[in-house]
Amino acid sequence: MSESTGSAAERIEWTTHCMPVLASVTDELRDAKPFSGARIGICLHVEPKTAVLLSSLKDLGAEVVTTGNFGTTQDDVVAELNARGHRVLGSRTDNAATHLQNKRQVLATQPHLLLDNGAELYSELEHAADSPLIGGTEETTSGADRLRAAPPLGIPILVINDSPLKRIFENEIGVGQSVLSTFQRVTNSTPAGKEVVVAGYGWCGRGIASAFRAAGARVSILEVDPVTAFDAAVHGSAVRAREDAIALGQIFITATGDRNVLPVEAIAQMRPGALLANAGHFGVEIDLVGLTNATRQSVVSPSIERFTFPTGHSGFVLAGGEMLNLAGGAGNPIEPMDMGLTLQLLCLKEVWQNSSQLASGAQPVPESINRVLAERMLAEMAPHLRAPREGSEPHS
Ligand code: NAI
Repeated sequence: MSESTGSAAERIEWTTHCMPVLASVTDELRDAKPFSGARIGICLHVEPKTAVLLSSLKDLGAEVVTTGNFGTTQDDVVAELNARGHRVLGSRTDNAATHLQNKRQVLATQPHLLLDNGAELYSELEHAADSPLIGGTEETTSGADRLRAAPPLGIPILVINDSPLKRIFENEIGVGQSVLSTFQRVTNSTPAGKEVVVAGYGWCGRGIASAFRAAGARVSILEVDPVTAFDAAVHGSAVRAREDAIALGQIFITATGDRNVLPVEAIAQMRPGALLANAGHFGVEIDLVGLTNATRQSVVSPSIERFTFPTGHSGFVLAGGEMLNLAGGAGNPIEPMDMGLTLQLLCLKEVWQNSSQLASGAQPVPESINRVLAERMLAEMAPHLRAPREGSEPHS
């Protein structure tokens, strides 16, 4: 079968059809134009799903300027969006300096709201008080951790990742399934019967563990938090001592948000032919600098690189150690992103309309938004599962 990809316009069209929740919320708000007068600065993976969100925000009256996260931008989607009158900066091959320049260009437009992924824009802000910025959202775990560790910005930032809906549907189900499917596609191999080590048993890690176990792998867990390690153990994973996991593993997947989880010294102790991949937000979980210095490299395919130690034994890194499901595949499945990006839209609207009533600092998505969206998702996906409302007919 051909591997060819349709045009960005076709992919955006397909994705739009698969995002009914965002579409229906956008339709309901279209006439009210709730973002009239709002300038929104965005740093988010640029791909067809985010393209649908950008169109919704524009349709609802916002002026939007966007740049992608490092290493995951789909260049043809950027070109298509710009041709449609959006303002999107950056390309997949940008180096760190160009990426920084793009982020600064977004901030230079003096946005009122930021939608950030990894606190890439927030960490470039010097003083929110000197700008028209009134608040925004943060998409992911790693970004929320960064915001909470940094000096306060004095504005409300709703953390999408703190919504139970996002954790369950995107991090656990979406990341689990898309990391597995991307692994299978880029390697053309199955994890069945193999020893797979997942580092980090948080929301993403447990989804990855469960997807790989369902595909026939023996899964073991590396986890620094003892309570979480216990959770993994009682859900059927082998929680191994680090040395044992390193010696036994054939496939390693990091999902911790931490850096240097697999240092070069550990990689040197792995079985020959070990496959290493990362699902965490930043491409720093596998020690690529150490690995590059200690080995000879060769390219197997666009998503597989071989690292050969002077001893002659090799390991393989998938998708350059960047997020496997995004850098090597099409990202999270569309439905969890339909939900997650609708959360983004509703939270940005909440900040734009009610920022003075919100506390400042990183904070969870308001419970009322979670409940409304959960109802809509249930109505969309499984109307027969909804509890009968008072006065409605009982299920037969
Ligand atoms: P989480 O906070 O629920 O879980 C992280 C787990 O890793 C925790 O249990 C923690 O104890 C453990 N951990 C931390 N350092 C460790 C180390 N050195 N060794 C072993 N375990 C360690 O976070 P979540 O939501 O699972 O996210 C994990 C990462 O994945 C974050 O960087 C997040 O931004 C990213 N992410 C990636 C997505 C993707 O599409 N690939 C989507 C959503 C999040």
